[in-house]
Amino acid sequence: MIKMNKQILKDTIQQLFVGGKGLLAMDESNGTCNKRFAAAGIPQTIEMRRSYRELIVTTPGLNESIGGAILYDETIRQQTKDSVLFTDVLLNAGIIPGIKVDTGAKPMVGFPNEKITEGLDGLRERLEEYKTMGARFAKWRGVITMGNGIPTTACIRANVHALARYAALCQEAGIVPIVEPEVLMTGNHSMQQCYDVTEQVLKTLFYQLYQYKIDLEGMILKPNMVIAGAESAAQNTIDEVAEATVNCLRSSVPATMPAIAFLSGGQSPEDAAAHLNAINKNFKNHLPWIVTFSFARAIQQPALDKWKGAEANIEEAQKLLYRRAKSDAAARHGEYIALLE
Ligand code: 13P
Repeated sequence: MIKMNKQILKDTIQQLFVGGKGLLAMDESNGTCNKRFAAAGIPQTIEMRRSYRELIVTTPGLNESIGGAILYDETIRQQTKDSVLFTDVLLNAGIIPGIKVDTGAKPMVGFPNEKITEGLDGLRERLEEYKTMGARFAKWRGVITMGNGIPTTACIRANVHALARYAALCQEAGIVPIVEPEVLMTGNHSMQQCYDVTEQVLKTLFYQLYQYKIDLEGMILKPNMVIAGAESAAQNTIDEVAEATVNCLRSSVPATMPAIAFLSGGQSPEDAAAHLNAINKNFKNHLPWIVTFSFARAIQQPALDKWKGAEANIEEAQKLLYRRAKSDAAARHGEYIALLE
């Protein structure tokens, strides 16, 4: 690790979370964004995606809660209707632009129902380009699916290997890697089963990061919470989820790693905020890391549903986005009391 980069990475992380802020993931690929648009009855065009992202980045007061926004390749190149680059809108508000650099989770040959994330080829050059566009941190998502006989060790190993190689290239470029090994919520598994798989994934991941000489002080972990499958009838209380999540992370994540920023994974916005809140409130003096959010759906969904692609709904949609981000920032301090709901 080049010494200068070490300081750059630390400074970026410090700035991202200053004053207790979190991250906004707005890096849906075109496929995912179109799927969400289709579900909300919004036309799936490049202009609609641009308008939606303009709505997000121009939300008044977003910078009160959000320190960094993760963009997608299409979005980082786009502008407002007044021809201001989205990256400039964000920077002017004091929000650091980041970029998703994986090219998606694809079916893993020979491993039915499992996925491997692609995007390492040419990544060094792409990082240089994104850097010139203002990106100071990046994201790569590995996907681990739970089910009958899965995840396999091979799938976990392949995904954490890619995450480690991605993280190394980011750090070489002076870009903070967000390392995201997502254990999916889909399925009817119990919270304990999620605990066991998440623990295995994180332990395997941190060993791999060690082997690839990743500077843990210069990265951010983006994990799932430890939670029963969405189709499981046996759901746990908010406090139980918080306790299982903290225990799992404390047993697997080195204390030198500065920050954990959770994904929401399909939880309702209220549940995601309540879980983050309980983690920070109940375990205040037992967390060696900043524990915050990097939500996509749990921040965006109410705003997307309100907007529906209509200009007339922009202001109301922005208010909902602002409110969700504010709730999550309160949860980051253990001060969310559903008071803004
Ligand atoms: P969700 O919060 O919707 O899970 O998305 C977070 C994310 O960035 C997934 O890669």
